Amino acid sequence: MGKDTFTITDNRTGKSYEVPLENETINALDLRQIKVDPEEFGTMTYDPGYGNTASCKSTITYIDGDKGILRYRGYPIEQLAEKSNFLEVAYLLIYGELPDKETGEQWEYKVNRHTYIHEDLRRMMHMFRYDAHPMGMLISALAVMSTLHKEAKDVEDPEVRNKQILRILGKLPTVAAFAYRHRIGRPVNYPNSDLSYTENFLYMLDYMGQHNYTVNPVLAKALDVLFILHADHEQNCSASVMRSIGSSNADPYSAMAGAAAALFGPRHGGANESVVRMLEEIGSADRVPEYVERVKRREFRLMGFGHRVYKSYDPRAKLIKKIAYDVFGVTGSNPLIDIALKLEEAALSDDFFIERNLYPNVDFYSGIIYQAMGFPTDMFTVIFALGRAPGWLAQWNEQVEDPEQRIARPRQVYLGPGERNYVPVEQR
Ligand code: CMC
Repeated sequence: MGKDTFTITDNRTGKSYEVPLENETINALDLRQIKVDPEEFGTMTYDPGYGNTASCKSTITYIDGDKGILRYRGYPIEQLAEKSNFLEVAYLLIYGELPDKETGEQWEYKVNRHTYIHEDLRRMMHMFRYDAHPMGMLISALAVMSTLHKEAKDVEDPEVRNKQILRILGKLPTVAAFAYRHRIGRPVNYPNSDLSYTENFLYMLDYMGQHNYTVNPVLAKALDVLFILHADHEQNCSASVMRSIGSSNADPYSAMAGAAAALFGPRHGGANESVVRMLEEIGSADRVPEYVERVKRREFRLMGFGHRVYKSYDPRAKLIKKIAYDVFGVTGSNPLIDIALKLEEAALSDDFFIERNLYPNVDFYSGIIYQAMGFPTDMFTVIFALGRAPGWLAQWNEQVEDPEQRIARPRQVYLGPGERNYVPVEQR
């Protein structure tokens, strides 16, 4: 076995450089010494979309995209989905270990005591138009929360950080539910801390003053598992935004407003909404082959398919497919499931998708479940955001504590004009 180094030879100069290799990674800054002229800037790497660049060292989430493995802090996602609950998983992601009984109970108690939002924020949410997208409302509400909790900017203080973690996890379902109630023109339901985290969310969405109102336990459990499956996914687009904004020492509300905005896009968390719109457009299972041909002609992408990291079946999609049938047991089936199953079957047996390792991802079946549960399409990404919140917070916390982290500031390859003189407008 040789040394853990690379020797890089610069064929322009014939000079060789020995570069250390740690965790199968070279430090990009070690390439800077490679230059022809000492006055030159030095060599960089070019990696649009960060397809092969590790931006941090992390101990939170492990993914093996070829084998379809996902683990939070070492625990397989399948075990957490079956045996844990969302708040326990949130604790695990943020603090690194599963809580013991007492710590877990205190954690749940504290999160559930941070669910009320400031009345000013509630009033501000009423200023949105009735048809405002709830993701826009969520993103804005996070920015407003930054103005209400001013001490949050003291991000170096772990106690201050922990307080914001409780606030964000506690208040986010309230913001989401208030956005929904505003949308349907109903008065908001204030949080009920006697209920579990997920039950309380469903209660705030649904309650209409009925006597003996109860949250359906099957639906609450299904949503709780969906939250677990969405809770973290290492350095995805929105987590990277959370870290990027956090790297300037901005407060976590501002950072999370940015992360939520990144999630909103149809190539990320907005895909669940796009999947349902796509299935509705297809309309019936017999139109699937024609639709697949149009995807192959590159008229559009198959939403809910493909992933930067998974080159096999997304383990979350497998679990979600099972949950769909639990939910249908309560709500009745969603006719879109037949189209989705047919689409999956057609794509998985087609060379175009096989050659490119395109499999269903987490968003392929989740929207169908949300729709069966009665959520309007534009709430789907909001639900993803509620699930992803502990992941964003864990990534942010880890980054703030990491002495190797610096402000995010990528380089560029400048290909624009060289220096030229300003031309007055009358001479152009
Ligand atoms: N339908 C058809 N072709 C696709 C798809 C798709 N959904 N995804 C990728 N491809 C093709 C793409 O055209 C390219 O083909 P070629 O090499 O011939 O040009 C090849 O597969 C590689 O695609 P890529 O764009 O280089 O892959 P990427 O890793 O940059 O993109 C992705 C990953 C998730 C953005 C992409 O697969 C996609 O747009 N999927 C649809 C949107 C979606 O479902 N997003 C949710 C992702 S999972 C949850 C989350 O992250 O929020």
